[in-house]
Amino acid sequence: MIQFKLVLLGDSSVGKSSIVTRFVKDQFDENKESTIGAAFLSQTIKLIDNQDNPDSPEEVSIKFEIWDTAGQERYKALAPMYYRNSNAAIIVYDITDDKSLSKAIKWVNELKERLPTDLDDPNRCIISLVGNKLDLVDDQESNRKISTQEARDFSIDNGLLFHEVSAKNNIGIKEIFQELGEALYNQ
Ligand code: GTP
Ligand code: MG
Repeated sequence: MIQFKLVLLGDSSVGKSSIVTRFVKDQFDENKESTIGAAFLSQTIKLIDNQDNPDSPEEVSIKFEIWDTAGQERYKALAPMYYRNSNAAIIVYDITDDKSLSKAIKWVNELKERLPTDLDDPNRCIISLVGNKLDLVDDQESNRKISTQEARDFSIDNGLLFHEVSAKNNIGIKEIFQELGEALYNQ
């Protein structure tokens, strides 16, 4: 079993806790309470490793130790305690809230200053940018405030993984963690 430390960062109410709750417990709460300080959860996934021996693929267990931080401004000073030594970071914004992408970009820049993130660094922290609440634009495209193109371009320019998801409808959540697990295992 290989363990990786993962941190979630992003503005308050973008859905960090909802993403983690969906991933760990497969539940969703319409009235989720805002996180105080941070919450710790863990979850294990399985990967198939067929790099060494393609004829007999091997199953590998990856355990994520997850720090779900509080997005409210008053907890901002605590964040470095949680992202310290992280192997991976999920930075979340809400695709129906324009301010939340600028906040996410600030987190990306802070992590790039404080953690190893260069693509060729074997100990780098792998960052995934995640736009949540995709369900809200399904019926009404005018709810969308952040285009996929803009967020994807930023991700490509900065070497980030990128997903648009819905914690509510369970769209794309597993994929975030599966992709991070594979990237971490293969780095
Ligand atoms: P803080 O803990 O304050 O940093 O917020 P957070 O980022 O953890 O947000 P949280 O998961 O508490 O979600 C905030 C609100 O958004 C809650 O009312 C959730 O039910 C709602 N929410 C979260 N994810 C989704 C989603 O995918 N779709 C919709 N429609 N609502 C969502
Ligand atoms: Mg929370």
